[in-house]
Amino acid sequence: MHHFHYSGQDLHCESADLAAIAKLYGTPTYVYSAATMADNYHRLQRNLSGLDLQICYAMKANSNLAVIRHFANLGAGFDLVSGGELRRVLAAGAKVNTSVFAGVGKTEGEIKLALENGIYAFHVESEPELARINHVAGQLGVKAPIAIRINPDVDAHTHAKITTGKSDNKFGIPLKHAAAAYEAAAKLKNLRIRGVQMHIGSQLTEVGPFVEAVKKVAGFVAELKAAYGIEYFSIGGGMGIVYRDALASGPQSWWDAQPADKRPLTPELYGATLTPLLVPLGLKILLEHGRFMVGNAGVLLARVEHLKRGAGKNFLIVDAAMNDLVRPAMYESFHEIVPVHRDSSRRALVADIVGPICESGDCFAKDRSIQEVGEGELVALMSAGAYGYVMASRYNTRGMPAEVMVNGSAFELVNVRETFESMTAGEKIPAFLK
Ligand SMILES: Cc1ncc(COP(=O)(O)O)c(C=O)c1O
Repeated sequence: MHHFHYSGQDLHCESADLAAIAKLYGTPTYVYSAATMADNYHRLQRNLSGLDLQICYAMKANSNLAVIRHFANLGAGFDLVSGGELRRVLAAGAKVNTSVFAGVGKTEGEIKLALENGIYAFHVESEPELARINHVAGQLGVKAPIAIRINPDVDAHTHAKITTGKSDNKFGIPLKHAAAAYEAAAKLKNLRIRGVQMHIGSQLTEVGPFVEAVKKVAGFVAELKAAYGIEYFSIGGGMGIVYRDALASGPQSWWDAQPADKRPLTPELYGATLTPLLVPLGLKILLEHGRFMVGNAGVLLARVEHLKRGAGKNFLIVDAAMNDLVRPAMYESFHEIVPVHRDSSRRALVADIVGPICESGDCFAKDRSIQEVGEGELVALMSAGAYGYVMASRYNTRGMPAEVMVNGSAFELVNVRETFESMTAGEKIPAFLK
């Protein structure tokens, strides 16, 4: 399912040796597999091939220009959420005419930029936003294509911070108010109603909530088609990935140990279950998956600083930290952590794997069993391709990590490590302090 594997004792991304990448570019460094991204894209496409499909990659998951260009080359449009993301699509040499613009607080400037560049549709989250888009479109003398985001009030059974389709989340318009919102949109002369959208959350590992949401809104979607001639229905993104046992396969794997009815969602099940519900609508279907497309296509490489043996606990201190990958600190999320050089003659060590930041929350894994690794050796945090670099910060004045993309045996730096000089370039001491 992904292209990270041991060749002999050494962890590789496709045919590239991760130790060689770390030697050239240092650590912490994100490494992405182009082949894994392409496989994920094609797997999704293949499993929904019975539909008139447009995949709009949710670039918030990983918006490196090389990643955007790669998906654009494969035929993807983009689900974008800011003027900055829109400018990334343009900077990557891709077009925005198959892309959608989501988010609850688009500014006038962002709306103008999107209209000037031929956005396929705005995903509108409130009535005041309809008015704002209508106003900007009027100023430009164009009709703005829109879809309203419906909040179907479905429990996605995922982490509270990434649930978006419940009535107490800030997203979308409740189904019972949606007809009125469309009527309001239809009266605004600078808007063109193009579709309808929903997205219920991220890292969903069951198909049930998707089915519930589609069934809940399907009747209304059909009404919209009859009333306004909408051309598409976006069912959002949210398909989860398996974070455990990212390198294992075969009978020992975590996956195989799960009872068949408890195994996490696959694109095969997603496609087979949703296609029959969506075909009768006779609409183009947009998918906005982010995590599924890139999550297992990236690792974060880190180097061991020290093994600190405490009274009741060992701490493996690595040079990556919560500023580089915040998911464990923010969502208590699990990442497999493996040695880059595997040596079966070494003992296993149980340790908390932590970064050097001055926060107890700067911990990637608690009481984790890992092959004993010493100072200077490399580890890889698996499945770090989604919501990794994009959520990184400069906390503790640590520069943003480097990013590398691999394609077969070739690899290139696709983002340089941030230097102290570039980090502080915009800062200055005010005259009154001199
Ligand atoms: C509207 C919308 N679409 C798509 C996504 C992508 O979600 P995921 O990365 O889980 O597929 C998100 C994530 O927050 C979202 O808010």
